[in-house]
Amino acid sequence: MQLIRANIAHFPTATKQPEQDISIILDGGLVIDNGTIVAVAPFNEVNASFPQASIVDHSGKWLVPGFIDSHLHYPQTQSIASYGEQLLSWLENYTFPTERLFSETAHASDIAQVFLRQLLKNGTTTGFVFSSVHKTCCDALFTAANEINMAIVAGKVCMDRNCPEDLQDCADSAQRDSADLIEKWHNKGRNRYAITPRFAPTSTEAQMASLGELACQYPDVFIQTHLSENLDEIAWVKSLYPNAKSYLDVYDTYNMVRPRAVFGHGIHLHEEEWQRLHDTGATLAFCPTSNLFLGSGLFDREMAKQQDVHVALATDVGAGTSFSMLKTYGDAYKVSQLRHAPINPYDGFYLMTQGAAVAHKWENEIGNLNPQSAADFVILDPHFDELTSLRIKPDAPFDDVFFALSILGDDRAVSETWVNGHCCYNKKELTHAMV
Ligand code: GUN
Ligand code: ZN
Repeated sequence: MQLIRANIAHFPTATKQPEQDISIILDGGLVIDNGTIVAVAPFNEVNASFPQASIVDHSGKWLVPGFIDSHLHYPQTQSIASYGEQLLSWLENYTFPTERLFSETAHASDIAQVFLRQLLKNGTTTGFVFSSVHKTCCDALFTAANEINMAIVAGKVCMDRNCPEDLQDCADSAQRDSADLIEKWHNKGRNRYAITPRFAPTSTEAQMASLGELACQYPDVFIQTHLSENLDEIAWVKSLYPNAKSYLDVYDTYNMVRPRAVFGHGIHLHEEEWQRLHDTGATLAFCPTSNLFLGSGLFDREMAKQQDVHVALATDVGAGTSFSMLKTYGDAYKVSQLRHAPINPYDGFYLMTQGAAVAHKWENEIGNLNPQSAADFVILDPHFDELTSLRIKPDAPFDDVFFALSILGDDRAVSETWVNGHCCYNKKELTHAMV
């Protein structure tokens, strides 16, 4: 049993008013045992109640729930920061050639390790991850995550047209391979599976139908894909699916719009698509660094609020330009400034912790520091360098600390990342749970 001493911030419940419902405990204590949170309260109280716990002292730092990155691509780790294109030519010129390398299992295993190390050093303890089309690529990630009991959601990308032939599966193999992976990994330890059609243009109607059938067979698995990211993409979807009422309707026709369906982007949506996302309880993943990098557009957080649609923040690496969820909120703030409706730090923090967990129906385990939740948390250091030491006063309130670290910080602000009760990343010692 361990007692971690620090200032503590989290959202114990679902909320539409994060600034009112945040729980802040100055000089707090988090008691953990066997990978699970036992208690969270002022340090003096828990110290008296759990005298047997060994104390880990992070006084002056902030302890927050591990971050949830709700959409990213692990085979794109090595093609991050590739110059000069918008979505469709970027996919052709950088993404597909890189994903091709993942037919080699050894390569997939190597990059899975790099990828998880990047998540951990940035304080991310859960990711919603696209693998490549190769079943073994998805296996490699689950295997690596399983070794450290990390809660990862992943899926084999399915695509059977409009991409290089050697990267195509087919309707039957996509269903069969996805079903095999569900049976092997979904709910095994902390792993969860996501049925993953890449996006409407790269799946035939036959493949959509076979994946929709699978989704009905497994009502609790996640679904992840892309939606309305780029105007050329949307026009292409219209020509490929002339009978669909909208882009979202392509997925809806095949029963893939539902709770635990996570749609990357959703920048250019029509009224009826917003309505349908609300009615079904699906989630939009807001990926600001990616949207700016590919010139895709400005996500409308205010509309999502008005329409009461779940939103979760995400990096979308490798179109996203950083693994840091702090930086991701920093860019979400800048996007929202251009829309004249700034996303405040409470909302930003919510969208990468409890808000994401609630959207994904997973708040019994992740996203918060409630007793019984998994001990997945991050220690943030407000004074990681000269500039943040100058800017962030020792008694600065959490919203100011979080905002300044999101604008000025990145992985350098993360002192430690704990997964399932174990410290898996320690900046000072530069140690990782993995090699
Ligand atoms: N749309 C289809 N595939 C992708 C991808 O890999 N990245 C992004 N950002 N959008 C996509
Ligand atoms: Zn993506």
